[in-house]
Amino acid sequence: MELSKVMEERRSVRHYNDKKLDKRIVCDILNYGIMAPSAHNRQPWHFIVVDNPNLKKEIGNALENKMGDIAKVTSDVIRESQALVLVFADIEDMVMDLVSVGACIENIVLRAKDLDVASLWIGYILNIEKELQRKFSCDKKLIAAVALGYTDHFPSKRPRKTLEEVSEWY
Ligand SMILES: Cc1cc2nc3c(=O)[nH]c(=O)nc-3n(C[C@H](O)[C@H](O)[C@H](O)COP(=O)(O)O)c2cc1C
Repeated sequence: MELSKVMEERRSVRHYNDKKLDKRIVCDILNYGIMAPSAHNRQPWHFIVVDNPNLKKEIGNALENKMGDIAKVTSDVIRESQALVLVFADIEDMVMDLVSVGACIENIVLRAKDLDVASLWIGYILNIEKELQRKFSCDKKLIAAVALGYTDHFPSKRPRKTLEEVSEWY
């Protein structure tokens, strides 16, 4: 698919079906993630991929127990997805490294779309950072999670501010 079409058609997907996602496809997607630019080429990202259904359920339940109804949809996504990528970072310079990992995550969701794999970028996961660090013996900073899987749901485009609203020219 053309890059512009991938960018136009990517959506946050919150319903997944049971179709299995091959490990090689997840690796392909993450390989595009690590092609992202990063400040000083530090490549501060670190992925923990959870595809074990019991573990995904445990993580979804932990989030829902902690946050209640506000995170219900996201917790369902975590349980329904075929793979949950926890994205951590080695932080030396907060802003530079966060932005770098953001670029990496954007590459991930775009490559996923390119392969007809649905995704959701999950920030709510930060509410259980400590629990996940402990569970996976990881002392890096949790930045986000990305849910991956196949879907029968094709959400329509969410509204965007216009370019005029968000830009100035001098
Ligand atoms: C940093 C970040 C955190 C997000 N966290 C969540 C989340 O926890 N749960 C959720 O359902 N969507 C989450 N989203 C998805 C946004 O809600 C979504 O990108 C936005 O509504 C625009 O929709 P679109 O991605 O379909 O264009 C997150 C997106 C970003 C970039």
